[in-house]
Amino acid sequence: MYLSRFLSLHTLWVTVSSVMQHYPSVWGHYDVCKTQIYTEEGKVWDYMACQPEARDMIKYVKVTLDPPDITCGDPPETFCAMGNPYMCNNECDASTQELAHPPELMFDLEGRHPSTFWQSTTWKDYPKPLHVNITLSWNKTIELTDNIVITFESGRPDQMILEKSLDYGRTWQPYQYYATDCLDAFHMDPKSVRDLSQHTVLEIICTEEYSTGYMTNSKIIHFEIKDRFAFFAGPRLHNMASLYGQLDTTKKLRDFFTITDLRIRLLRPATGEIYVDEQHLARYFYAISDIRVYGRCKCNLHATGCKEENKRLLCECEHNTTGPDCGKCKKNYQGRPWSPGSYLPIPKGTANICIPSISSIGIRKAVMAEELP
Ligand SMILES: *[C@@H]1O[C@H](CO)[C@@H](O)[C@H](O)[C@H]1NC(C)=O
Ligand SMILES: *[C@@H]1O[C@H](CO)[C@@H](O)[C@H](O)[C@H]1NC(C)=O
Ligand SMILES: *[C@@H]1O[C@H](CO)[C@@H](O)[C@H](O)[C@H]1NC(C)=O
Repeated sequence: MYLSRFLSLHTLWVTVSSVMQHYPSVWGHYDVCKTQIYTEEGKVWDYMACQPEARDMIKYVKVTLDPPDITCGDPPETFCAMGNPYMCNNECDASTQELAHPPELMFDLEGRHPSTFWQSTTWKDYPKPLHVNITLSWNKTIELTDNIVITFESGRPDQMILEKSLDYGRTWQPYQYYATDCLDAFHMDPKSVRDLSQHTVLEIICTEEYSTGYMTNSKIIHFEIKDRFAFFAGPRLHNMASLYGQLDTTKKLRDFFTITDLRIRLLRPATGEIYVDEQHLARYFYAISDIRVYGRCKCNLHATGCKEENKRLLCECEHNTTGPDCGKCKKNYQGRPWSPGSYLPIPKGTANICIPSISSIGIRKAVMAEELP
């Protein structure tokens, strides 16, 4: 009976997917976990691989600064414009709302004037390095879908490392190095993501593209997710099916775009020139006005919903799976080992639903009992 149901589903499947072929834009949406279909046996559920929509993940982040007292303004401090050491009329004062620059201002809505930003203390302890870690934690596995973008309000740092964790901050790996001089700072040859290929896409590079002096008008640093996707999906990401196919078969590639935490390690502020002006150390500090992280909850292709509960994201698991990432089978649905859904075959993938445990099927139990001597 199971076999015949499978066959009739399969026939229908073929018809559905040939209809889908007329709508290439439908490819790779994976926005439905199941639909009811009609077969000779009546209405049955047809299960599909599914995933939540990508969204702005910054809303759900928890931020930690190390050292914890690195934010400016306590005690109040004046700082200078980096380009002009004699323009020192800016003040940071944590006790006055208009003059405070707390970390939350990295995550508020931009587009206002003047833009709001977090700011560190100045580099008054030079030559002791001014190191700051900004750690972003989700307490949830997330798949990045767009570039990480960090906007600096002073110059972009001379040296910084973007790191990631896949295990809730227990271990960290570098994601990308940024420096005005990669060889000098990190003993790495400077590279750009465009120098990579399908085969080297997972290489961790040092880029000089985003660290040029303060004279350039750009304030932005990228971690290029889309350029990396493009090695598989084409320059305008028109062939997502090809990317999904690769993600399905290459765990390393999938893991590369997956995070639970990010860490921005600021190692040397913008100096704008080779020598640090020791007479005017109030020119040197970090200031960040915006951080963008787009992604989706990782639900192992078993959910389209991902809800916030007690300030934490949780997948709304289908296919009789459970856990924060739908990473296991529900109780009484362990009839075969859990496995993630699969993007293949395009466009609907394979759901790999969890099936009832043998012991929970009454009839089977009875049959088995009869067979006992
Ligand atoms: C920042 O994080 C790194 C590891 O990711 C750690 O070695 C370092 O001590 C941390 N703290 C500061 C202030 O850099
Ligand atoms: C992360 O989530 C787990 C499971 O829900 C919870 O027990 C833990 O307290 C959370 N950790 C943090 C730091 O919020
Ligand atoms: C679990 O599986 C059973 C049988 O396959 C199905 O009837 C039920 O709706 C499923 N439950 C969920 C929550 O998907």
